[in-house]
Amino acid sequence: MSEQSGFAPELMRGRVAVITAAGGAICGEAARLLAHSGCELVCADIDGDRLAAVAGRIERETGRRIVTVQADLRTADGMSALERAAFDRFDRVDVLVNGLGEHLASAGAHEESTEEQWQALYEVNLLHVFRACKAFVPGMKRAGWGRIVNFSSVEGVRSAPALAVYSAFKRAVDGFTKSLAVDLARHGIVVSAVAVDKTRAYQVNHYELPAEYERLAHTWIPAGRYGEPADVANVVVFLASPLNTWVVGGTVIADGGTLSAGGWFRTPKRWTNQPLLVQYLEDPERNETRPPAVQ
Ligand SMILES: NC(=O)c1ccc[n+]([C@@H]2O[C@H](COP(=O)([O-])OP(=O)(O)OC[C@H]3O[C@@H](n4cnc5c(N)ncnc54)[C@H](O)[C@@H]3O)[C@@H](O)[C@H]2O)c1
Repeated sequence: MSEQSGFAPELMRGRVAVITAAGGAICGEAARLLAHSGCELVCADIDGDRLAAVAGRIERETGRRIVTVQADLRTADGMSALERAAFDRFDRVDVLVNGLGEHLASAGAHEESTEEQWQALYEVNLLHVFRACKAFVPGMKRAGWGRIVNFSSVEGVRSAPALAVYSAFKRAVDGFTKSLAVDLARHGIVVSAVAVDKTRAYQVNHYELPAEYERLAHTWIPAGRYGEPADVANVVVFLASPLNTWVVGGTVIADGGTLSAGGWFRTPKRWTNQPLLVQYLEDPERNETRPPAVQ
């Protein structure tokens, strides 16, 4: 076992992985764990500083050089730059991790959203997945081996109030994953997805919560804490590795239990699926101020 990862250091020996959004929290950690599992890496992100920080750390820890590509992966040119960089350095790509995705702070009533917002959500959540798969699947087919891991969200499986279009594109990632997986399985290419929730990352502001709210995380996250990037990155490494032979088209839920809990919340005395009503019954002295005004 590697000290830096729970996976064996030879698990991915000789494999080449392309990782998008590799400067980010989850995919940066996935890149690090893949490197410690023996993988050669091509890491891409739009943010050069984040990319350099991730690459520098991996290079220091493993002593191996990794290829970095600073590019806007929403564009065809950005994806071509990634493809060129990978094939200039390596003769093939075995693993593709499509990590890029964001809700772009687009919350609001659907009737007030704009076509520009829908297009932006499409480009950052779905279009690049199509392009990356088109670029790297032919080589995997020739090699007769490949792993593709796409990033969905619990909000594509459940719902995302006020984020309906984001939710739709994450759901589309699951749909694309299933169909592509069925097309490619007989070529030795295993396509899967991971659906994330409540994991510390640049684009979510969990770590800005005041300490007294952190303490209450068990109310809405059954695992009792926010996820760390490694909680999800370990799932990604498994899905990207030869250990994954049977998650074909499936989406693995990596969320500390939020989706399983559904609408259930832990209160001091019991679980409830009517949280405000329980407060009303258990703490009647404060009912003058309840229910809070709901818009
Ligand atoms: N963190 C969570 O709780 C959570 C929840 C649901 C889904 N996800 C999904 O997990 C995946 C990984 O996200 P994360 O939470 O680690 O994100 P993160 O915010 O930590 O990192 C995202 C990275 O994407 C890069 N990026 C943004 N736009 C880009 C572009 N146009 N081209 C190239 N790079 C770009 C950013 O520079 C950043 O480094 C995403 O697909 C996200 O939708 C995460």
